[in-house]
Amino acid sequence: MRRVAIFISGGGSNMVALADSMTGDHPARPVLVLSNTDGARGLEKARARGIPTAVVDHRPFGEDRPAFEAEITRHLTAHDVDLIALAGFMWVLTGGFTGAWEGRMLNIHPSLLPKYRGLHTHARALQAGDTEAGCTVHEVTADLDDGPILGQARVPILEGDTPETLAARVLEQEHKLYPAVLRRFASGDRRMLQLP
Ligand code: GAR
Repeated sequence: MRRVAIFISGGGSNMVALADSMTGDHPARPVLVLSNTDGARGLEKARARGIPTAVVDHRPFGEDRPAFEAEITRHLTAHDVDLIALAGFMWVLTGGFTGAWEGRMLNIHPSLLPKYRGLHTHARALQAGDTEAGCTVHEVTADLDDGPILGQARVPILEGDTPETLAARVLEQEHKLYPAVLRRFASGDRRMLQLP
C-alpha cells in the first residue's frame, strides 16, 4: 500500500477528492495532509476524515527555503510517506526537494500544459480567446509546472465565461482527473490519461 501525503494551501477540494478515492482496493492511502499556512480551509476537512495534518508555515523561514523543506521532510519521514500529491499547494519547492522526490511527486495545474504555467491561468485563457481550457496532472520536476504529463481533462470555454465560471468548470474536471491519475500512478502506470 503506497502512503500518500497531500500538500494544500487553500480550500482543499482536490485533497478531498483524492482522499475520498483512496479506499477499498485502491493501491494507496492518505497518511498526511500538509499545509504551508494554518489558514488553509482544507485542514479542517482532513481532520474531519481522520487524516493526520501538519502545518509548516513558510514565513518564519524567510529566504531559507531548504530549512523550510527540511521541516516538511521531517513530517514526511515521521509518516513514512511514499508519494506526494500537490493539490493547490501555492508554494514553489526548490530543486533540492523536487529532485529528492522526482518520480514520486504529482501536481495538478488548472490549464492545458504546456499552456499557462504559473498563476491566473483562466484569465489568461480567456484573454487569449481560447475555445477550450482544462487541467493537467504532471510529475513534479525542478521547473515550475513542467515535468512529464500524466493526464489532462478538457472543458469548453463558453460565451460570457469569466475566470470564476471557467475555474468552476475546470475544478469539476480536476476532481475526476486527479483521483484517476493517482490511482494509476500508485500502481506503477504512467501512461497519459485523457478525459473526458
Ligand atoms: C485548483 O484549481 C488547482 O488546480 C490550483 O489551485 C486550486 C486549488 O483548489 N492549483 C494551482 O494553481 C497550482 N499552481 P483546491 O484547494 O480546492 O483543491
